[in-house]
Amino acid sequence: MTTEEKKQALDEIAKKIAATKGGPLAMPGINPVPGEGNPDAKIILIGEAPGFNENIQMRPFVGQSGKLMRKNLVACGFSEGEVYITNIVKFRPPENRDPTPAEIAFFQPFLDEQISIIGPEYIVTLGRFSMYKFLGENISIGRIHGIPAQIDWQGKKITIFPMFHPAAALRAGGVMRQFESDFKKLTSLINGSKTATMEPQIELVQKNDVKQLELI
Ligand code: URA
Repeated sequence: MTTEEKKQALDEIAKKIAATKGGPLAMPGINPVPGEGNPDAKIILIGEAPGFNENIQMRPFVGQSGKLMRKNLVACGFSEGEVYITNIVKFRPPENRDPTPAEIAFFQPFLDEQISIIGPEYIVTLGRFSMYKFLGENISIGRIHGIPAQIDWQGKKITIFPMFHPAAALRAGGVMRQFESDFKKLTSLINGSKTATMEPQIELVQKNDVKQLELI
């Protein structure tokens, strides 16, 4: 697909998301937050769900945690316009509660289509819900954050780079240091200055349909 075709396809998905009116999250005052960025992005960053500010501005990651994430992105030499930013769930859950499995399942086809259209080389997962989607639920973010893993997406390899959610970094100084250091690791990985520790170190093992990660 050309960049223009990808842009049109992403616009179509945004319309389909808006047409759900929130699906299981429908309520007065709720707005769609489909995602934004470069249709040809090499990197997609995927968070959990929009919050208060995102619902108002209809853009992902524009509140406090978004500012932290975008600041780190730019500090590491990426421009906001070269990446694509979106969420697992496309509307704000009430009181910013965790999304339910039914809500995640409802919005999954939209996210999957976005990924397939863009065809990124890297997906940065921000927080555990986004990490679970690609790496399975029986792993701990504390153990595997900052460690790249390779997955197969419709016959194409994508490197998943799991990171803490920026909201968790804002709550605890220790997580903040790891969040910032993971951004630097991501930069080295993408810029090709791979150290031995930055080669994919995780193998995805499918056992009875349960995704398991094994540290190599
Ligand atoms: N947190 C998220 O996970 N996504 C946003 O868009 C904003 C905050």
